[in-house]
Amino acid sequence: MSIRINPSILAADFVNMERDLGRITSADLVHVDVMDNHFVPNLTFGPQMVQRIQDVSALPLDVHLMIDDPDRWAPAYAELGAYSVTFHAEAAVDPVALARTLRAGGARAGIALKPGTDPAATIEMLAEFDQVLVMTVEPGFGGQSFMTDTMPKLRQLRDAVSATGLDVWLQVDGGISTETIGIAAQAGADTFVAGSSVFAAGDPAAQIAALRNAAAGASSLDQ
Ligand code: DX5
Ligand code: ZN
Repeated sequence: MSIRINPSILAADFVNMERDLGRITSADLVHVDVMDNHFVPNLTFGPQMVQRIQDVSALPLDVHLMIDDPDRWAPAYAELGAYSVTFHAEAAVDPVALARTLRAGGARAGIALKPGTDPAATIEMLAEFDQVLVMTVEPGFGGQSFMTDTMPKLRQLRDAVSATGLDVWLQVDGGISTETIGIAAQAGADTFVAGSSVFAAGDPAAQIAALRNAAAGASSLDQ
């Protein structure tokens, strides 16, 4: 079992994206937040920008789609070569069909749950997914405070993954810092998104190492 640290480039300098990608090469994947100003009240970029990030990134892309109608728009991100494409349970009409399309397109399929979303339906279709993303803030903005009350849901998902024996990664996203990462690791997360805590650090590589150590030290999973 390994710990994955995925810096979110939402906290990078958008006009110096290639430079900032070069600062996080000791991470595991690059977390790419696509926001459409409908599903969330914020706007980032779409497939054209993600294609350029894919072209220049040394690390594989972990695309997090905070968009309406992912059934229609998500497959393009698999087709451009993203390693992982995660869409929101609250937005998808047919999550199983979409997950199958993403896998057929060569990507890992992920499903994301907002803090208030019940995990029961996701647990029923775990075999269709490679990753479940438990949002630990309301999606839309970086720099928010970690919501500890999402941890019982994470634990419930970890127990379900263990019970099925499936290799489904459990990702947390929002408010992850050296202070909070241990709480999520203890509750069963293995994949950690961190935006502001990585890019606000003077030395992002040192911060990635510190996050990795803090997660490994607190993890309830076999290392
Ligand atoms: C928020 C995004 C996150 C965001 C996390 O909706 O999905 O990926 O970049 O930022 P921090 O780590 O600053 O909470
Ligand atoms: Zn995200």
